Amino acid sequence: MTLPLTRTCPHAPNPEYLRLQEEEPVYRAMTPSGVEAWVLTRHEDIRIMLSDPRFSADRTKPGFPSLFAMPQVKAGSVRSLLFMDPPEHGPARRAVLGEFTVKRVAELRPRIHRIVHEHIDAMLAGPRPADLVRALALPVPSLVVCELLGVPFADHEFFTERATTLLKRDTPPEGRGQAIGDLRSYLDELVAGKEADPPDDLFGRQIRKQREAGGKADREALVSLGFLLLLAGHETTTNMISLGVFGLLRHPAQLAVIRADPAKTPGAVEELLRYYSIIDAGISRLALDDIEIGGVRIKAGEGVVGLPHVADHDPEVFPDPLRFDVERGARHHLAFGFGAHQCLGHNLARAELQIVFDALFARIPDLRLAVSEDQVPFKSDANVYGIYELPVTW
Ligand code: HEM
Repeated sequence: MTLPLTRTCPHAPNPEYLRLQEEEPVYRAMTPSGVEAWVLTRHEDIRIMLSDPRFSADRTKPGFPSLFAMPQVKAGSVRSLLFMDPPEHGPARRAVLGEFTVKRVAELRPRIHRIVHEHIDAMLAGPRPADLVRALALPVPSLVVCELLGVPFADHEFFTERATTLLKRDTPPEGRGQAIGDLRSYLDELVAGKEADPPDDLFGRQIRKQREAGGKADREALVSLGFLLLLAGHETTTNMISLGVFGLLRHPAQLAVIRADPAKTPGAVEELLRYYSIIDAGISRLALDDIEIGGVRIKAGEGVVGLPHVADHDPEVFPDPLRFDVERGARHHLAFGFGAHQCLGHNLARAELQIVFDALFARIPDLRLAVSEDQVPFKSDANVYGIYELPVTW
């Protein structure tokens, strides 16, 4: 078997993955990078893998089971939080952790509200049907990142246009390269402009912190951080917004539950995260030592791939997993990963999703799909599951 197996039903993991979970939960398969790896499908096994520091996240290590064909990179050459191991990862993560606390996200909420309502206003003023992906799901996460990073309002368009180009399916490789170059030089200038008198935003606070620690501002590290936040927080949230709207429209009785009591929206967000659990390519690691998981001895140097969307359908943890139930209490899903690298932006993503669903269904009570369900183009072929286009009307 070669990973990944695509979804054959838009609302469930591939049936072969579910069979493996039941019969062969630690299974040997080929990854797209041509390296064999152990595939984990059970919730408990993936939690063990993601919380044991003897599994490395350093994609530049020889033998790492990459989930997409990647250009060859020199070991240690990429300074992204996602790729770091101890002892480097902890301090680098702690340096930005304060930007993503519940308190900090609560401070951002009014601005997220404003962004969401402005986009709903524009959608309502525009033609019907509207594509919800373009109208709401794509712009909201990039404007939220703008708020987070302190991108000046006048530059919003430049920034979100490049971000959209980077993420669009039909952007050719040169277009993508151009967008990456544009964004990196933009971020470089943005950070440089904040160095003289660091403002009270993410970059400003990081610059002050680096100086207080006795060093000078490490601009290259901040540009990489800004870029990681843009990428990690964008496509994921975009896809969860469109899948979430689709999922709720498809289950009117469940939608009625949160409409009647918005205090239930956070629970619905957890269930949507579990139900669609969008990291379809999986999360991979490299064993640095011999480690036993699920009764199988994984040897040092072997790769492991955990499939969170399959684990989030593990009946041991989520009874009747194919049933969508906003009141099931699904918070222990693995949609944000687990352990040292667990999603840094989870509080922010949760806030964005809650605000979007509450605002959208309150303001457009008769929102509905403008096409039949089987005409909705799902991203079954992508590493992050989602929807390319979601025509809606009201
Ligand atoms: C890491 C999912 C939104 C920033 C991760 C990981 C997952 C994930 C599964 C772990 C990867 C691994 O272990 O290798 C998601 C999903 C999101 C979302 C499903 C939306 C629904 C965001 C947002 C931000 C963000 C909004 C910030 C703006 C990050 C960062 C990491 C990360 C910085 C790396 C953390 C580390 O390596 O220590 N995300 N994410 N994510 N995410 Fe998210």
